[in-house]
Amino acid sequence: MKGVILAGGLGTRLRPLTSVTNKHLLPVYDKPMIYYPIQCLLNAGIVDILIVTGGEHAGDFLKLLKNGKELGIRHLEYAYQEGEGGIADALRLAEDFADGEKICVILGDNIIEKNICKAAGNFFTQSSGAKVLLKEVPDPKRFGVVELDGDKVVGIVEKPENPPSNLAVTGIYFYDNDVFKMCNSLEPSARGELEITDVNNFYLKRGDLTYEVLEGWWTDAGTFESLHRASEFVVHSGANHTD
Ligand code: DAU
Repeated sequence: MKGVILAGGLGTRLRPLTSVTNKHLLPVYDKPMIYYPIQCLLNAGIVDILIVTGGEHAGDFLKLLKNGKELGIRHLEYAYQEGEGGIADALRLAEDFADGEKICVILGDNIIEKNICKAAGNFFTQSSGAKVLLKEVPDPKRFGVVELDGDKVVGIVEKPENPPSNLAVTGIYFYDNDVFKMCNSLEPSARGELEITDVNNFYLKRGDLTYEVLEGWWTDAGTFESLHRASEFVVHSGANHTD
């Protein structure tokens, strides 16, 4: 399985920090943010990685990561997203890299305490479809949120006014190759983006979406509050991101 890290977007919520650099290069405690999703993939044995980025500072990823060997990446590729058309728009750029294989996609601002080895192993043996990882959160309005009927996910709503549960869809997704057909068939949402939640709902409707609840803490780092929290989590858990 190959890994795709989505690190595009303009990071406007973090201005002025992002006026002179890309959000995913900002520090989270002692490392640039992008190191965490990279390590997350490596910990799951995923060593062929594509980073999708964009904006004015895209070249800085190359300065920092070079060919990825120092971090243990076997094969590192980059793709450039024009504008910020949404997560599913960025994902479209991974089609050639995926080359028919299953992929694990992680948003560049998502940081986890533990690892995704079990989920990755389970998806490897899943014959087709997609898998999402969920996490209970105190502020579900900020995320994609699942609606459950018993244990069954019956819908996913993006940033709901009235969240149907407190289980957020984290930014870690597993997909088969159909994901590219789905991304290419999407229409922009009201906020002008191609939404990953629409992709996940496609899989759900065709009965091909599984889920697991992530163990340990999870946070995004795309707002001042969550960026600060991410550093605190890393410091206090003593996470070395190699377990
Ligand atoms: O963090 C999990 C959440 O991420 C999910 O629960 C939501 O369903 C999902 O829509 C997303 O919500 P956000 O509003 O937090 O997404 P954001 O626009 O902050 O983008 C998250 C990352 O995705 C960002 O760090 C880089 C990547 N991205 C985003 C956009 C809009 C791109 O690569 N290109 C883009 O155009």
